[in-house]
Amino acid sequence: MDDQTTADHAYRLACEGNYLLWRGDFHNALQLMQAMNCRINRAEQRKASKAAKSAKQPSAENTTASAFHQQRQAQAQRARTLGRLLLKLDAGYVSRLRRAPELSAACEAAFGVLDEPCLMSLRDLQGALGAAQWREKGVPIEGLDQPIFPHYGVFAPTRHEYVPLLQDAPLPARHEVAFDIGTGTGLLAIILAKRGVGQIVATDSNPRALACAADNVERAGLSAVQLQEVDLFPTGQPLADLIVCNPPWLPAKPSSSLELAVYDPKSRMLRGFLQGVRAHLAPHGEVWLILSDLAEHLQLRTREQLLAWFAEAKLEVKYRLDTEPKHGRSQDSADPLHAARSAEVTSLWCLIPA
Ligand SMILES: C[S@@+](CC[C@H](N)C(=O)[O-])C[C@H]1O[C@@H](n2cnc3c(N)ncnc32)[C@H](O)[C@@H]1O
Repeated sequence: MDDQTTADHAYRLACEGNYLLWRGDFHNALQLMQAMNCRINRAEQRKASKAAKSAKQPSAENTTASAFHQQRQAQAQRARTLGRLLLKLDAGYVSRLRRAPELSAACEAAFGVLDEPCLMSLRDLQGALGAAQWREKGVPIEGLDQPIFPHYGVFAPTRHEYVPLLQDAPLPARHEVAFDIGTGTGLLAIILAKRGVGQIVATDSNPRALACAADNVERAGLSAVQLQEVDLFPTGQPLADLIVCNPPWLPAKPSSSLELAVYDPKSRMLRGFLQGVRAHLAPHGEVWLILSDLAEHLQLRTREQLLAWFAEAKLEVKYRLDTEPKHGRSQDSADPLHAARSAEVTSLWCLIPA
């Protein structure tokens, strides 16, 4: 493919499953990908209006859950189609294309050192360039006196309506030791340290998250936060006065490792956390679970199921703080999941031993 290739031609070839090697100008490749994306949007709109015309009267329950699964399938298909536009890179992520920017620093941060030439999808390259910008500029967090710097492949707290909940919840009378399970960028551990918790052990199973949290903790100049790469709970620690966790909110299969922080297959993390938390909690301790009810509106989980999991874990609800999302998608009435997204409530559940 080169500067003479039309978007229609490239789109058709990519839809047929062909990989397209770009040999033209770098910026024209970006424009071509954008034009292919527009064609995907148009194809999806055509499909949606055809489906709306031929729809009989499906039950409300099935429509929401199946609209969610269809939306995810469409996203995965979009990623596959756009991912077929490839560039050749030399060792060190050097592109010989006209007007190619410097790629090495962003790609090394995302994918590690490259000693030999490779083919890379332009979409993945764009992901690495975007992540590098966030890592450089940081994400401002309301109520926090410093931005948080996400790394590539780490949950970026761009939607952080739950942060005020964590700042407003009254700390338990004793708050010497706290755990932050699934710390990501380290955001919740940093908030707890700034609120005066003496010692915080923050865990994550993703090594990228641990490196990112270490970076943010160091920028904040906090010595109270220790980090551990483990599945859920830290080892070799005293019982905690407070255990916080913001697990992935949706029980669904991630379609790539980048989605592991958003989708929790079969609620593995949420259930593992609830089942294990009491063994790590002091008798007077509190659990702060941050969870949105979007999964309930999408019919992927019921409120009764969640409350039953609390009861099975011998935890009772002491109080709950709620907030509503303000992000753009919750206000987009064209989104097929608008009804669910606009009804979403994010909560801090304060749980104590029953
Ligand atoms: C929704 S993100 C929350 C990140 C951060 N606490 C925040 O609020 O911004 C969930 C985090 O849990 C981590 N995680 C998922 N499964 C885990 C497990 N079994 N043990 C530890 N961490 C896990 C993910 O890597 C991710 O960083």
